[in-house]
Amino acid sequence: MTSKIASVNARQVWDSRGRPTVEVEIGLTTGHTGRAMAPAGASRGINEATDLRDGGTRFGGYGVDRALEGIRAEIAPLLNGMSIEDQSAIDAALIECDGTTDKSRLGGNAMIATSLACLWAAAADAGEPLWRYLAHGRDVALPLPEIQIFGGGAHAAARIDIQDFMVIANGASQFDEALAMTAEVYAAAGRLMDERGALSGVADEGGFWPNFESNEAALDMLVRAIESAGLRPGEDVSISVDVAASEFCADGIYRLAVDERALNTGEMIELLGRWIERYPIISVEDPLSETDEAGLIAFTERFGGKVQVIGDDYLVTNAERVRRAQQRGACNAVLVKPNQAGTVSETRAALQAAHDGGWDAVVSARSGETEDVSIVHLAVGWGAGQLKVGSFARSERMAKWNEGLRIADQLGGGQMAGSRRFGWLRG
Ligand code: PGA
Ligand code: ZN
Repeated sequence: MTSKIASVNARQVWDSRGRPTVEVEIGLTTGHTGRAMAPAGASRGINEATDLRDGGTRFGGYGVDRALEGIRAEIAPLLNGMSIEDQSAIDAALIECDGTTDKSRLGGNAMIATSLACLWAAAADAGEPLWRYLAHGRDVALPLPEIQIFGGGAHAAARIDIQDFMVIANGASQFDEALAMTAEVYAAAGRLMDERGALSGVADEGGFWPNFESNEAALDMLVRAIESAGLRPGEDVSISVDVAASEFCADGIYRLAVDERALNTGEMIELLGRWIERYPIISVEDPLSETDEAGLIAFTERFGGKVQVIGDDYLVTNAERVRRAQQRGACNAVLVKPNQAGTVSETRAALQAAHDGGWDAVVSARSGETEDVSIVHLAVGWGAGQLKVGSFARSERMAKWNEGLRIADQLGGGQMAGSRRFGWLRG
């Protein structure tokens, strides 16, 4: 007998920016339950699933009363009685009920919280941890973490232009080892910022507030932090940047405010090329704007053999867009954010399209997060290889890293997967 959905409960909870978000709890006929919360982005792609917000002045317009109302009035009666084992049927029903291409009627926030809560309930019903339920008996490994040290762009009031200055502990082979190395780099960065009198708290994802006079100064500081932690830049720990270029591009011009420069696509590629030459950078996300496909193709052609080129805003966790980018030669990896897609099935399809085309996949959190750890289980169970959840501070981030440690224990080891294409890992 298959277990059926018996109840769908929605409530408003709060995210890491103190804004309302949606939590959904699914109850099954067997008594098992599943629960999930929607995260929220700040540097959002134009083609992402759209969250349903109340607007107006209350909570800055971020209220979710309408999203909750949709869950209670439409989603609950729709899902009640459905088999919990068939996630694709559940997601198809949600998509059809919403009826829009951007999920704006029911809201991407309502849909992803519901879809993920169903997935958790199905795993609970099967008596398995979610990662194992998703792995279907396949061998799995921990994802290689990509961890933010300085947060800029939309996460730090555009104090500097580049959004994420991150590290990848490519000299590690075990998950706990990668976290330990990163902890030392994060602490060293804090000490160095303090010595310079530049310690001013943290940005939205827990990375240090970027009190720098130029974008490049952040890269210099990152290298110094790695060295000061007693690690070798490029060998033990390398640099990864999320340029999030859509945020500072208008009419084909990239305006680097802190550097007081305005660059065209070619000049922007040259600048990033110089950084790739001078610094131990192994991964670059959104190097050009989501609307600058020619630029993304040109960048990938020049540097895609050397560095991972991740598409976030440009691909928005959409399988169709991933396949098109593969045909055109733009990017060689996809960022996988479940709430960009809006359902578990569509998220899975985007990741699968990446792997089918020989790409890497990085499962990612959003800048607005909660204690929800679903993405860690998706990254392990689906064999994503890499995981990005922000910095190494604040519990909405640490909850994810700590969940990875628990999964490593359940697996009997924390061997990491990492990049299929670049094989960065030691050993
Ligand atoms: P967001 O940023 O969650 O604010 O959109 C994260 C990212 O760009 O990777
Ligand atoms: Zn991004």
